[in-house]
Amino acid sequence: MADATASPRTYPARTWAEVDLGRLRENTRALARVAAPARLMAVVKADGYGHGAVPAARAALEGGASALAVARPDEAIPLRDAGIEAPVLVFAPASPEEVDLYGRLHLTATVVGRDQAAALARAAREQGVRLAAHVKVDTGMGRLGFLPDEALAFWEELRGLEGLELEGLYTHFATADEPEAAYARLQWQRFRGLVDHLEARGVRPPLVHAANSAALLRMPEARLDLVRAGIALYGVRPPNTPPRTHLAPALTWKCRVSTVRTLPPGWGVSYGKEFVAWRPSRVATLAVGYADGYRRSSAHRAQVLLQGRRVPLIGRVTMDQVMVDVTELDGDPGSEAVLLGGTGPHAIEPEEVAAWMETIPYEVFTGLSARVERRYV
Ligand SMILES: Cc1ncc(COP(=O)(O)O)c(C=O)c1O
Repeated sequence: MADATASPRTYPARTWAEVDLGRLRENTRALARVAAPARLMAVVKADGYGHGAVPAARAALEGGASALAVARPDEAIPLRDAGIEAPVLVFAPASPEEVDLYGRLHLTATVVGRDQAAALARAAREQGVRLAAHVKVDTGMGRLGFLPDEALAFWEELRGLEGLELEGLYTHFATADEPEAAYARLQWQRFRGLVDHLEARGVRPPLVHAANSAALLRMPEARLDLVRAGIALYGVRPPNTPPRTHLAPALTWKCRVSTVRTLPPGWGVSYGKEFVAWRPSRVATLAVGYADGYRRSSAHRAQVLLQGRRVPLIGRVTMDQVMVDVTELDGDPGSEAVLLGGTGPHAIEPEEVAAWMETIPYEVFTGLSARVERRYV
């Protein structure tokens, strides 16, 4: 009798992402060279942008990153469990209930407001710990932080707060990858103005930082003490940045070909019958769907690679399967399809998949669901 307790992990995955850690390391190396003498902080939030936080963090540290960042404190647990000791900055504002976790895991906290900072410092004192903290300044992202003209007074107040060790000051750009550079420059001027103002009063935070990937590549003046690179580590050059730095996508997304059949003219394909075969059509059914992160919005324009050649997706994307037209393909379509990545002239770039899905590469990567097995090469 079949063993009903067998773990599903013992069966081969139907869809998987191959992450090339060598590429991640090389991308980091290239970015660290651009950033120097500024240090590079590797952003590995959201499970390393879907690539796997622990392997991504290790590869980035091997490639020259000196610190890591996550969005939420619990994202640091697997990093510390894996024995990674590099500093980890948490972007989300720390709450007093989390002080324990910050202390235990030696995380660096973000502070964004007076009450938050005071509560955090109180909790830290009660627990007998001292938390490294970075003050966030909102120079125009409109999301988190002090406005620049509040920041000096706040910094002075915080300096007197026992329980916190002020280590950094940072801001985040809203438009560093947009064609129009004026707003990013305005944010930069606001931040630079604040840093100068602090300096004139004898305040020099040890780590002042502003740049994300786009600003790192496009705004040399904004590199400061540290840059926080995310998307570029994974091999995607942000739009409107100079192409000088070679980056290669680290992730290849694949799935299995379930069946190949010939359908007669007039036969509908997928929900809604939005595709109807107009000739005898060879149709391959692939084991990937929107529950894996292959979005419905990619219908009618996406392509996949079979045997190194591009074939069109036909009909709607279903939860677990999609269909592609392989009529034009000579020979056997093979047992594997490449959904993103691949080698040769027909390789599918993350930006293309993102355009088909009406989104950005960040969301394609972080949208890969838990059903997509990660494999490391
Ligand atoms: C505060 C902060 N810094 C840096 C980054 C990294 O941005 P990117 O992936 O564009 O390099 C992010 C990502 O969203 C962020 O939220």
